[in-house]
Order: sequence, then structure tokens, then C-alpha cells
Amino acid sequence: MNVFIIGAAGGVGTRLAAALSTHDDTATGMYRAPDQRDVVVSSGATPVAGDLIDDTVDDLAAKMTGHEVVVFSAGAHGTGRDFTTLIDGKGVEKAAVAAAQAGATKFVLVSAFADSERGKGFGEGFEHYIHVKRGAEIYLTRTDLDWLIVRPGHMLDGAGDGLVSAGLALRETDIRRANLAEFIVEALHSTELTRTIVEVTDGQTPIAQAVSEVARSVGPRR
Ligand SMILES: NC(=O)c1ccc[n+]([C@@H]2O[C@H](COP(=O)([O-])OP(=O)(O)OC[C@H]3O[C@@H](n4cnc5c(N)ncnc54)[C@H](OP(=O)(O)O)[C@@H]3O)[C@@H](O)[C@H]2O)c1
Repeated sequence: MNVFIIGAAGGVGTRLAAALSTHDDTATGMYRAPDQRDVVVSSGATPVAGDLIDDTVDDLAAKMTGHEVVVFSAGAHGTGRDFTTLIDGKGVEKAAVAAAQAGATKFVLVSAFADSERGKGFGEGFEHYIHVKRGAEIYLTRTDLDWLIVRPGHMLDGAGDGLVSAGLALRETDIRRANLAEFIVEALHSTELTRTIVEVTDGQTPIAQAVSEVARSVGPRR
């Protein structure tokens, strides 16, 4: 499987490239700042420079051509309301159009719990972030792509233990980025887990089992 990662120099992106390489998949990692190139190379991905704000849809599609899967794990990470709109919101829309244009069959969006951290007084900027994340989900669910939305809990660094909890609706708790990356790789190899929204946290279930159980929970009871 040939995977195009947007946000490849980030916490999830680097771990995802590393996880893909252990599954004999290949990754191309899109990074923004020149000094992130080496980070992407070290993660095991082939680096390609790109910017969700400056690149046109045609630019992005040209970079994505030849990849079956696009994973979007970019984010404005607290750089302000406008960048949140442009990256976490419009960036997803642009990437989805480009993916379809490039002939990618699958699009995975790393999103967030819809009620994440609400009521904790993080302020208007955080409410805007959640609003934008939801808007991106809505956009993606209306495309013809073979999409999958993954909502991770509050993310932590540190080694993964291969155990998660995954479901269509969960209480939000923490998840290690390494476990999330492994979950995405397993999900990419599932033919059943598609065009659905999955919430995932650290838990007690081996990742491959969690993917197959949540896939079976979608659709008619089997
Ligand atoms: N932190 C949490 O607890 C949490 C929980 C749930 C969901 N999430 C979401 O999970 C996703 C991944 O998180 P993460 O920890 O991997 O984030 P991260 O480490 O901040 O990585 C995000 C990456 O996106 C890149 N990026 C930003 N703007 C870009 C642009 N215009 N064009 C191309 N790349 C751009 C960043 O590059 P620069 O360094 O150049 O900006 C960075 O490498 C994010 O969407 C985040 O909102 C986070």
C-alpha cells in the first residue's frame, strides 16, 4: 500500500510512517518547513514539500498521484483561529478534492472527539477548533471518497503497547500517538472499516482485534 501523509513531520505523521514501514507499506510524507525534511526521512517516509494553504488543489493532486491512500494528520496546533480554519478546515476540503483528482481510493482523517475537552474553560479558540474539526468531518462524509474518520482521545507521546479501545461512541480518555498510528495502519488494511467514524483511546484490546470488532459493529448485525 502506498500512503500519502499530510502532516508527516508531526507527532502522528512520523509514527504513522514508521508503523507503515513495519507492515511493508510505503509512505510519502508531506512537510511544510525545510527543516522538517530530515524528520520525515528519519520516520521512513519519502519526503515531499507542500503547504495546505499555499498549494493549489492541482499542486496537491500532482503530489498525491500514485498513492492509493491519503492520511490527513495535519493541524494548526494552536497557532490561531485563522490558521485553524485554513488548515484543519479548508485544508481538509482541499486535500479531499485533490485526493479524488489524484485517483486515491481511501482518505483517512485524524479528527477529534466532538465534545473534546469542552467545559474545561479552554476558551473561544478551542471552541472554534472543535467547530472546524466537525465541519471538516461533515465535508468529508459528503464526498465519494472511501473515507474513514478517526477521532483519537487526548494524545500522548511515549511507546505504544498495542492495546486500544475503539468504537462508534466512546468516553474520551488518552491515547498514545504510537497506538493511534498502529490503529490507522490496521484500519487501512481492513476492507470493512470504511465510510464510518471511529473513536479510539488507549484500552485493553489488541489493535487488530479492535479494528475487526469495530468493523463488525457497523451495518446490519452479523
Ligand atoms: N493533541 C491532541 O490531544 C489531539 C487530540 C485529538 C486530535 N488531534 C489532532 O490530531 C492531528 C495530529 O496531531 P499531531 O499531534 O500529530 O499534531 P502535530 O504534531 O502538530 O503535527 C501536525 C503537522 O501538520 C503540519 N502542518 C500544519 N500546517 C500545515 C500546512 N499548512 N501544510 C502542511 N502541513 C501543515 C505541521 O507542520 P508545522 O510544524 O510546519 O506547523 C505538523 O507537522 C491534528 O489534526 C490534531 O488537531 C490532536
